[in-house]
Amino acid sequence: MADRIRSAAEALFRSQSAIALTGAGLSTESGVPDFRGPSGIWTRDPEAEQKAYRSYERFKKNPKEYWVERLTGPSLLGDLAGVSPNPGHLALAELEAVGILKWVITQNIDNLHQRAGSRRVIDYHGNAFKLRCASCMARYEPKDFDLPEMLQKGTLPPTCRTCGGIIKSDIVHFNESIPSDVSTLSLEAAVASDVMLICGTSAVVYPFANLPRIAKRLRRESSLPLTVIEINAEPTPLTEQGISDYLIQGKTGEVLPRLVAEIKKGSR
Ligand code: APR
Repeated sequence: MADRIRSAAEALFRSQSAIALTGAGLSTESGVPDFRGPSGIWTRDPEAEQKAYRSYERFKKNPKEYWVERLTGPSLLGDLAGVSPNPGHLALAELEAVGILKWVITQNIDNLHQRAGSRRVIDYHGNAFKLRCASCMARYEPKDFDLPEMLQKGTLPPTCRTCGGIIKSDIVHFNESIPSDVSTLSLEAAVASDVMLICGTSAVVYPFANLPRIAKRLRRESSLPLTVIEINAEPTPLTEQGISDYLIQGKTGEVLPRLVAEIKKGSR
């Protein structure tokens, strides 16, 4: 592992446009469960996964009921306001602060990258602390609407002040399209990257899992370099299919700070 951390540090140190792609594995050390790991939510409760596959359908069919459930029902990931960034999040924020990391593209909805100090974050699957118009994609903060009063008075769902469309959580549900501004920016960042750190994801959910594949192919066709480095507790299809150059198998909260320390050593 030490050798691979040294190589990764070297690659990042020399990079012109490094980015990080992250998943639920980055937040497990903050107490937020993942989905498909050994004690993941879907692993433990396959029915919950089936229910999640119907969320977007339920929203379209009955947005009022969708909102009542969001405001009164249990949260799948627990209390996201009550957890804190871990050393993995902080290490990525530090890599941005020293000018090495240009973007973090995350599948996580927990806002922990932003709370760790990362500023250039793309919430690929949305953000649990934001709302979005399902028609024009305008973004809102929850405080822009008095949701508890709307619940009490039965005036849910909130509607968009720009187009009158129905407001939903910013979270991207299964079977819902990735908002076009998010997918365009993510693809541009991926194709422009020369080093891609892929941290804490099983890399089985699309279209996110396509980002490293498309970037690798397009950069190869233009004879541009791209080193793809996975940091994960277990191998993924990216490892098995040789999309990643190598896997650093371990905990992101331990490996990422070691990577930063190694880079600092190199820059002295
Ligand atoms: N360090 C490194 N790897 C970890 C850690 C950790 N501390 N904890 C868990 N892992 C690994 C797991 O072994 C697993 O391979 O992280 C991976 C997490 O994979 P998933 O649970 O599938 O999460 P993710 O890839 O983010 O899921 C993608 O699926 O359910 C949907 O919308 C949801 O955004 C999510 C998407």
